[in-house]
Amino acid sequence: MRVAFLNPQGNFDPHNSYLASHPDFGGQLVYVREVARLLGQMGHHADILTRRVTDPDWPEFEAPTDAYPGHENVRILRIPCGPERFLPKEDLWPYLGEWVEGVARHYREEGSWPDFWTGHYADGGLAAALLEEASGVPFTFTGHSLGAWKLDPLLKDEDDLPAADARYNFGARIRAERVAMARSAAIVANSEAERREQYDHPAYRGAVDVRDDGRFVVIPPGVNLDIFDPDARGEQEEETRESIQAAHERDIDPERRDLPAVIAWSRLDPKKNHLALVEAFAGSDELRGQANLVMITRGLDDPLREPGGASEEERPILNALISAVDRSDLWGGISAFGLSGQTALAALYRWGADTGGVFCLPAEYEPFGMTVVEAMAVGLPVVVTQNGGPQETTDGGQAGLLADPRDPEDIAAKLLRLLSDRETWKAYADRALERSHDLYNWRRTAEGYLRLAEEARRGERGGDLSFPIPDFARQPAPAELPRLDNWEPQPEHPAG
Ligand code: F6P
Repeated sequence: MRVAFLNPQGNFDPHNSYLASHPDFGGQLVYVREVARLLGQMGHHADILTRRVTDPDWPEFEAPTDAYPGHENVRILRIPCGPERFLPKEDLWPYLGEWVEGVARHYREEGSWPDFWTGHYADGGLAAALLEEASGVPFTFTGHSLGAWKLDPLLKDEDDLPAADARYNFGARIRAERVAMARSAAIVANSEAERREQYDHPAYRGAVDVRDDGRFVVIPPGVNLDIFDPDARGEQEEETRESIQAAHERDIDPERRDLPAVIAWSRLDPKKNHLALVEAFAGSDELRGQANLVMITRGLDDPLREPGGASEEERPILNALISAVDRSDLWGGISAFGLSGQTALAALYRWGADTGGVFCLPAEYEPFGMTVVEAMAVGLPVVVTQNGGPQETTDGGQAGLLADPRDPEDIAAKLLRLLSDRETWKAYADRALERSHDLYNWRRTAEGYLRLAEEARRGERGGDLSFPIPDFARQPAPAELPRLDNWEPQPEHPAG
């Protein structure tokens, strides 16, 4: 089977050089790479199609083709569109049709279409719909993150819609998502919660029906167990421990340096809700007495004291964190520093587990929560948001504690349950380890995609190919992108 993964945004390079250091470089990079590599290992062929960028600031994305060493069956193919420079994913829409034509041209020149397309995120989904129209080859859609749920919390006032839409081009993104949902042969969700809750937003009605649509398939993603395992200590182990120690010596009071850590690792994005965790520490003397707070801020070293290097999006988050730390004088018990790459992250989790720490992700909502499962796989117990995928990944709170992300007291109480009792800590660490290793491995994910590809090719699955594809996705692209003129925000994410 020859499978083509469509990802106009995110770019890809053999080292995932920018993972988590920019909003466009999140879990999707790991997801697509791992499924593609597993398919390759199983003897199939996988192409990862992404955008070619010729920009001195992003030299890794310039070559037209690339490969992962040791994975001969997987190609990274970079197709140019629009200006040569790097563009954030929100600005790609006017060039998507051109990108799709470039992808089609590539396969025509090679003499055959792939056997199956799989579109990732809104832009990849719309590209897949256009390519299936051109080739007759079916596609699946994997949303990763849906626009409607990103837009809702941005609408604090009635007249916020035009500004949010202009900045993030939600009009194009949500139309793209609707087309991808309606026309795909299957919609891949990471968890039941994602299917039930994310796709039930009114913005997607008419394109998909979560109550009665057999095209939904839940395929959980995996964890790279070669890296995220208690015993997978590698070359970077020592180096990472030295970085942690150096950060402790810089930030943590000497008498606190032997305390375990509550570890937070996620992008500085409002939806990740770092502030609730800082507030949990601020509001609990007991928690402050039991642990330090260690925040990993990829690409930023010591951003609580030197926020100057942060992006425009990260600055307000850091400012709020700094005020909260100042207000409650948490200095001496909190450290924020950068670590880069998955092996360093796994080494950090192993250090956390060896020293009796806890991983915490108090995000408003997590469709799946890959970092949570990665921490679990190393044997680091977790306290995570009760909203979304962690309900399933922690087996309803059996293999990790669930907390209300809007309630810092609840977060503090759950952290203390683990930190203050060694037996409880051990029981959750063991269950986390067992569950993550049993259920979340990439081979199973790749097998799930293969099954869908085979079913779609046999004609057992199909989408609504009469659902219209909007003009902005076609060449020549119209000057204006579609805008949202009215919107029905959902008050908050449905709690799990
Ligand atoms: O990498 C995970 C991911 O969901 C990507 O698919 C996407 O680039 C990003 O994170 C989230 O995007 P957004 O904030 O636009 O929903």
